[in-house]
Amino acid sequence: MAAATRLISRLTLVTGGGSGIGRSVCQRFASEGASVVVADISEESANETLGSLSGDLRGQVHMAAVVDVSSKESIKQLVTSIQTRYFQPPSVCVNAAGITQDDFLLSMEEEHFDRVIQVNLKGSFLVTQAVAQALVACGAPKGSIVTVGSIVGKVGNLGQANYAASKAGVQGLTRTAAKELSRFGIRCNCVLPGFISTPMTDKVPEKVISKMKSLVPLGRMGEPAEVADVCAFLASDDSRYVTGASIEVTGGLFIG
Ligand SMILES: NC(=O)c1ccc[n+]([C@@H]2O[C@H](COP(=O)([O-])OP(=O)(O)OC[C@H]3O[C@@H](n4cnc5c(N)ncnc54)[C@H](O)[C@@H]3O)[C@@H](O)[C@H]2O)c1
Repeated sequence: MAAATRLISRLTLVTGGGSGIGRSVCQRFASEGASVVVADISEESANETLGSLSGDLRGQVHMAAVVDVSSKESIKQLVTSIQTRYFQPPSVCVNAAGITQDDFLLSMEEEHFDRVIQVNLKGSFLVTQAVAQALVACGAPKGSIVTVGSIVGKVGNLGQANYAASKAGVQGLTRTAAKELSRFGIRCNCVLPGFISTPMTDKVPEKVISKMKSLVPLGRMGEPAEVADVCAFLASDDSRYVTGASIEVTGGLFIG
């Protein structure tokens, strides 16, 4: 059961909020009292998530927004529209937007490498920077930025040189942001999911999925809600002494 009210009056921006883990984060945060900005490159998916959010706790107002996290201009417009609507920047941000474009290293196209880095790594940088700048500019007392990395950023994965590099990158980004932003009361952490059932992993061939499941000590794939639970902990004051951390949400996959 959710600890019901940890996120009351926390305005939260969730990128990639239209699907999978991002959608679960929006739902979990709304259920704990946050006002949620569901941001996604797909307007339709963002609106679908918006329609699924509970809003019966004090002062909750949710909105959906279109953003391309790889574009600085698009993020600037998003942050401006949030501040116009709520008269404050988000004090919580979850970077969940992400893509895969898999291929073996020997044949990977340069543009597939670049696109995955642009969305997963540069996108996390641009959103983290924009949110932190807005929080510092308005003198907000605290903030929490959570970035969704991946266990493959630590261990690598066949066919995912671009993706694994982007996810290793977000851990370095997050640790640096944690060091630089703690004096402004802003904490920055990563969650590292393993194999989670979402539209992203629906693309993975069944034979790879069953091989992966056999490697997971807990014996199954994870659910998006199980990642969202950890994001809610990192967003809330329950994690007030945690910054620069990477929390694995893998069912024990690759613990060594
Ligand atoms: N599913 C897994 O097993 C798994 C494991 C580890 C990490 N992750 C990470 O979790 C995050 C969410 O993945 P998911 O499995 O929920 O995938 P998903 O495909 O279900 O959701 C990703 C969302 O990001 C959005 N998006 C894509 N490009 C965007 C852009 N440029 N700007 C804004 N939004 C954009 C998509 O429209 C989609 O709604 C990603 O960062 C992914 O790398 C997933």
